[in-house]
Amino acid sequence: MPTLHSLQGRRILLGITGSIAAYKSPQILRLLIKAGAHVEVVMTESAERFVGVETFRGLGANVHKELWGHTGELHIEIARRMEAALIAPATANTIAKITEGRSDDLLSATLLSSQAPVLLAPAMHPAMFAAPATQANLATLRKRGVRLIGPVEGEVASGDIGLGRMEEPENIALALAAEFEGPRRLSGRRVVITAGPTIEPIDPVRSLTNTSSGKMGYALAEEAANLGADVILISGPVALPTPPLVRRIDVKTALEMKAALHETLGDDLSGADVLIMAAAVSDYRPERASPDKLKRTDNGLTLRLAPNPDLLREVGARRRTLRPVLVGFALETETGDALIHHARRKLIEKRVDLVVANHATDSLGLDTNQVLLVSAQDCRPLGVRTKPAVATAILDWVARRLETEIKEWTA
Ligand code: CTP
Repeated sequence: MPTLHSLQGRRILLGITGSIAAYKSPQILRLLIKAGAHVEVVMTESAERFVGVETFRGLGANVHKELWGHTGELHIEIARRMEAALIAPATANTIAKITEGRSDDLLSATLLSSQAPVLLAPAMHPAMFAAPATQANLATLRKRGVRLIGPVEGEVASGDIGLGRMEEPENIALALAAEFEGPRRLSGRRVVITAGPTIEPIDPVRSLTNTSSGKMGYALAEEAANLGADVILISGPVALPTPPLVRRIDVKTALEMKAALHETLGDDLSGADVLIMAAAVSDYRPERASPDKLKRTDNGLTLRLAPNPDLLREVGARRRTLRPVLVGFALETETGDALIHHARRKLIEKRVDLVVANHATDSLGLDTNQVLLVSAQDCRPLGVRTKPAVATAILDWVARRLETEIKEWTA
């Protein structure tokens, strides 16, 4: 029995073009939203002659119409975040435009900018559908991998009967859901990730911090969400946008990060299946932050630093079961065997399942990273990769770990 479950959490572009069948588009939107999809509606100018923007807004979608007049490039932004585009109804005109690669309105420009799967539900008079031009366009699109849903035989607006009626909304939603069938590897898992530096105040305008950009942690959060996980990102101050579908908790100091972790994981740590500590937590903080700005003197300044708690070690020490799976990072200035030795020491001392070890100059502030994945079983060098590619490898390790756990329990 086909269902719409696979649409849960998916980011869908619903394109609406100027056909009388657009009166059924709100029903399609309702089905997608009810199934848990995040839908952005893009309407063409002629679509608006048949249905109003407020109908879609009222149903809970973001509606876009204009290619122009935004800061940045809206068509590129939508193209980046959508996982599939459903054009329903798709008119002969829009089909011709997509075939030719035109980009003179928001919908066509977005589709041209995206590599996500495209599904079309054509709706037009049977004569227009049967026209050689339309048929040739559809044949081209099919060859490019575009999926067609319908049309079906029946009565069209003019009262004529033939092939050109839009498929029914339920079947359109099911066809879209079929695109996403097959479980994603982290579906149903709660993954908590820390990222970025912490910043420890010295006085109201000065602080101790480090050069972590947060890129690794954010790449992990984005990839975990793509794999279907429910992701909570506990982030120190960084200049990065929150990845789609990720819940972000902002913190500044190590103690605030500790409190956010405690709140998220709970006393018994049952709030997460996986914890990945990618944050560069300050090991020390000024013993006392001055309430007033410190004045310059010629005598120099001695700051007394108090140790911060080791957050990962505390969680490792409290863990009584296999959950959460714990992943730590080890940023070292040593290389080779010494690097592996330190990583193994951290694995044991902090009681974690995986240590991602890297050499400081290979990663800090860069877009790439060169890491070793060190676990009790093995030590795997990954070579130089982009941070998203490193994130994929780490989450592949985590997913395997969760999958073997299930096999062990059910054996
Ligand atoms: N970490 C933490 N709390 C801290 C410091 C570090 O949870 N106060 C976590 C980091 O998020 C990282 C891991 O511990 O996942 C290793 O960080 P690193 O700074 O390499 O570890 P230290 O134990 O501080 O290393 P060292 O003994 O080399 O100082």
